[in-house]
Amino acid sequence: MASGVTANTVEIGGVKLHLSTADRSEQSWIGQTEVLRQLLACWLVVDPSDRPLSPRLVGPPGIGKTTLAMAAAKLRKQALYINQCTADTRPEDLLVTPVLAESGKIAYHASPLVTAVITGGICVLDEGNRMNEKSWASLAPLLDHRRYVESVVAGITIHASPDFRCCVTMNEDESTYEVPDYILSRLQPTLTLGFPERDDEMAILKYHLPFAEQDLLGLTVEFLQQAHELKLDFSPRDGINILRFAIKRMAQDSDHPLSKDEAWLESLRCVLGEEASNLDELARRKRRAMGGQHSPMGLGDLFFSPDDPLHPDLDFDEDEDEDEDEDEDDDR
Ligand SMILES: Nc1ncnc2c1ncn2[C@@H]1O[C@H](COP(=O)(O)OP(=O)(O)OP(=O)(O)O)[C@@H](O)[C@H]1O
Ligand SMILES: [Mg+2]
Repeated sequence: MASGVTANTVEIGGVKLHLSTADRSEQSWIGQTEVLRQLLACWLVVDPSDRPLSPRLVGPPGIGKTTLAMAAAKLRKQALYINQCTADTRPEDLLVTPVLAESGKIAYHASPLVTAVITGGICVLDEGNRMNEKSWASLAPLLDHRRYVESVVAGITIHASPDFRCCVTMNEDESTYEVPDYILSRLQPTLTLGFPERDDEMAILKYHLPFAEQDLLGLTVEFLQQAHELKLDFSPRDGINILRFAIKRMAQDSDHPLSKDEAWLESLRCVLGEEASNLDELARRKRRAMGGQHSPMGLGDLFFSPDDPLHPDLDFDEDEDEDEDEDEDDDR
């Protein structure tokens, strides 16, 4: 176990480890209290023989996965460490890296994850599904009842503090590895983030851009809510970026200042592309691109047949032209 802890080093098994620094960014979580409570429940320990869970936070990019984990760590008043995972992350990047010091000796640097393991902090393995199997394999004992990691590089076993907690955020995009099942079974439960309700979305935008004018905020929330309804993956982050750029464009000295509407529309196009200015058309194209693929089963599929007018997913095309409706009926 750890001995000889100083401000930023610790000695384990005779090896001196340099610790990472905690993340100090301020993040508050707005709305969706249930998923926050679920995450906090995962990290509870209800009996001396109980142990914490390490959940997966899943959802499209920019929906708030990392923010949720950061806010939960803040509520628990524990130091937060973020390990950014990429396709190039090697086991030693996750655990202990040897670095050639000026003295010519090797210095061992503990990753943010291992620093949280040692000091009893919270670690977010951010974008975990970008990481390959070899790196995941090095975490298997940490994520089950053993709660330790073995650093081959430093030749030591590092046992987790009882206060250590962890979660993994995962995106659903294509540039990722398939996480092996034996790892997924250790990353339970899955907590799925949904898009915010209208009022929460407005509060999120106001929180991040308190200087934004109400009508620009209104335009952005309206746009995002329409996109959520059409099942397009535009996120609060997109909204924040659109607003930020629009506001900067309006603030610029210019002989021909842009009106609010012009600035907002230009920003929308620059941030999300020309196609985002026609959401209905974009949604139609997305559905067409899905072609014969069946969309994943939703709760509605359990209660309604696919063509039942009460089916919650049967909503978009009611008054569109007949041909398209027929095509889609064939696809279902
Ligand atoms: N509920 C929320 N409360 C406060 N801020 C939010 C909320 N949801 C999203 N945000 C803000 O939206 C932005 C994107 O959030 P975040 O980076 O957490 O998304 P993410 O799901 O981790 O994205 P990625 O998959 O790309 O990593 C951040 O600026 C974040 O603070
Ligand atoms: Mg993230």
